[in-house]
Amino acid sequence: MVSRIIKVNPKKPAKRCIQKAAEIIKKGGLVAFPTETVYGLAGNVFDKKAIKKIFKVKKRPLDNPIIVHIAELSEIFKLAKKIPPKTKILAKKFWPGPLTLVLFKKKEVPKEVTAQSDSVAIRMPKNKIALELIRKANCPLAAPSANLAGRPSPTSAEDVFEDLGDKIDLILDGGKTEIGLESTVLDLTVQPAQILRPGGISFEDLKKVIPEIQLHPSLKRKVLRAKDIKKKVKSPGIKYRHYAPKAPLILFEDEKKVAKIQKLIKFYQSKNKKVGVMAFKETKKFYQKADIVLSIGSKRDLKRIAKNLFKTLREFDKRGVDIILAEGLFQKGLSQKGIGFAIEHRLRKAAKIKK
Ligand code: TXA
Ligand code: MG
Repeated sequence: MVSRIIKVNPKKPAKRCIQKAAEIIKKGGLVAFPTETVYGLAGNVFDKKAIKKIFKVKKRPLDNPIIVHIAELSEIFKLAKKIPPKTKILAKKFWPGPLTLVLFKKKEVPKEVTAQSDSVAIRMPKNKIALELIRKANCPLAAPSANLAGRPSPTSAEDVFEDLGDKIDLILDGGKTEIGLESTVLDLTVQPAQILRPGGISFEDLKKVIPEIQLHPSLKRKVLRAKDIKKKVKSPGIKYRHYAPKAPLILFEDEKKVAKIQKLIKFYQSKNKKVGVMAFKETKKFYQKADIVLSIGSKRDLKRIAKNLFKTLREFDKRGVDIILAEGLFQKGLSQKGIGFAIEHRLRKAAKIKK
């Protein structure tokens, strides 16, 4: 099977395109669709067969639960119970938008979706194609990012096609996604609420609404021992290498990173390796000796970097590099602010080695 790709105007989605996609979902099929963060791979949340297919085509580990997408706030009550009052406050402020809320699940939500867990992750995406699709399918949509497990998330229909083009029924092409990184995952089943994955809504913005919100221990800067992280893991996605290009990526975060990268370009080239460097607009010029240098944007424009990051990682794969030397953002804690925190998190997860 080769997936059909239908172009859809994200500002004014044509009804017949959405209708076609909705019918596929009603029949138990899978449709990739754009959200404001990354592309998702959707199936009917109540259709266990469809959910099993999602895990299969993505090669997703069975212990990694899936986010459920809704189009109206009231749908929360079909999926979750013991909903704390702060849910409504957060939803009113940030939905539709890149915030996922983890709540206790109702028994109607299949355990296949939540990977046997008693909680369910829910979000309302800010994208007309996504919202219309949920409405027309007439059910909440279980949808992980539409990439093969472990790979960078897809920010365009072409990225989805690259990973899953021969395994799913349809791809709705709504152009490049706006944010480029996934939603923030916030666990409301614990007190105080905990961020499990940084993303499109910043820690600071969440704290303005719910001041007691904390970071999951695995996201804190002070280094935890690996076995502690495994013990404490709550969002199973946290423990796998993720967002990763095929070539190993070495991440450099300290002040001497330029000199270190320059030295390693020579070293790997002497071993006949094709070396890629991922730099910023400001530092690209230092790496002219590398085989391929790609900029992810200006250090002063973190939104642009977020938008470019996954695409750039995929581009290194297309160009067939053997190793990627990447400049990190970390500078005395600055990058933990705003979307910088999520960028840093994805880079660290993508890295095989951190220097
Ligand atoms: O922006 C996004 O969130 C995108 C778009 C498509 O909505 N989706 C996405 O899904 O990134 P996925 O499957 O790639 O990542 C979902 C994350 C994983 O880290 C998973 O472990 C966590 O959410 N998660 C899902 N359900 C959970 C639950 N019940 N408890 C804790 N973590 C959960
Ligand atoms: Mg994913």
